[in-house]
Amino acid sequence: MTEIRGAGIIGIGSCSPPKVLTNDDLSKIVDTSDEWIVTRTGIKERHIVEEGVAASDLAVIASNNALKSAQISASQIDLIICATVTGDMPFPSVSCLVQDRIGAVNAAAFDLQAGCSGWVYSLTVGASFVKSGMYDKVLVIGVDILSAFTDWTDRSTCVLFGDAAGAVVLSAMNPDEGVLGMNLGSDGSGGKLLKLEAGGSLKPASLETVQNRLHYIKMEGREVYKFAVKILGEASVKALEASGLSTSDVDLFVPHQANVRIIDAARTRLNLPPEKVFINAHSYGNTSSASIPLALDEAYNQGKVKPGDIVVVVGFGAGLTWAASVIKWTMPAI
Ligand code: UT7
Repeated sequence: MTEIRGAGIIGIGSCSPPKVLTNDDLSKIVDTSDEWIVTRTGIKERHIVEEGVAASDLAVIASNNALKSAQISASQIDLIICATVTGDMPFPSVSCLVQDRIGAVNAAAFDLQAGCSGWVYSLTVGASFVKSGMYDKVLVIGVDILSAFTDWTDRSTCVLFGDAAGAVVLSAMNPDEGVLGMNLGSDGSGGKLLKLEAGGSLKPASLETVQNRLHYIKMEGREVYKFAVKILGEASVKALEASGLSTSDVDLFVPHQANVRIIDAARTRLNLPPEKVFINAHSYGNTSSASIPLALDEAYNQGKVKPGDIVVVVGFGAGLTWAASVIKWTMPAI
């Protein structure tokens, strides 16, 4: 399809809560060790919120940082899309809470749920609105507070997650710049591998759901691991093909930061050198919908991406879902 206008990132920001939980801290809560966690995941520490801090609190800070970086005011935003699986409450949406608190008085707002792939899904939806001419400026947020749904007695999951938010501002630009090709997918048959069973219409909160610990994340880690290694490479190659590019064109690969071993395995499959892959999982753990915009913001601020660079963002997660997008970077070098 020939596009008459493109959509690209003109501002980026993130927010990571100050409280740090190290592997040694976790070894005092459950039967684990720094050695096990580092060897199996590469994670050394994660940031988690204090009690009472919700998804919208981090999302507002990340959004204001992105607006500042874009040098535009909140009233110029036409649409807010927020990727999350851990909103402040089932409704209203995080995007509406953010819309009010940042003063985006002219913006439509909705949340998008696609597990840890949610932010890349949201990026492609936002870019489509801009490319179609429907909207000029779209704020795309990814936020999750997984610590609120982590079973702190389950060592197989509690060592993995952290809390954060990241956001970008999309704006119209030339069709050969910004968000290029993408690949989105789902396999609902794998939904049982990663789930939070209660609190929805199937099993509303009850004494029984609480007693059975059904309000916490449950995961079959091994199965998710196998899926992740396969899909990160496949989705990236398809998104590159859709952009008329190949892996040799990639300047920076920014995957979902779930596990350094998963990222390394995908990197090997894609035949990318380590210096072209951005990893910050060791400092933040898996921050779900926030992981990719948080990594992208950190990579940008470390001067790892400059105008004209081809950046691949790719995620996988609950659903099961996956999403990859190719971005021709346009923001000025730091
Ligand atoms: O964004 C969402 C996507 N989620 C993911 O990306 C997670 C994907 N999966 C993974 O990253 C890995 O499967 C894990 C890191 C979760 C687990 O690593 P693994 O190498 O697959 O370990 P495992 O689950 O097969 O467990 C191996 C052993 C078991 O003990 P036995 O049965 O061999 O005696 C576990 O009980 O390690 C044990 N174990 C632990 N030991 C110390 C599990 N968790 C821990 C722990 N500390 N925290």
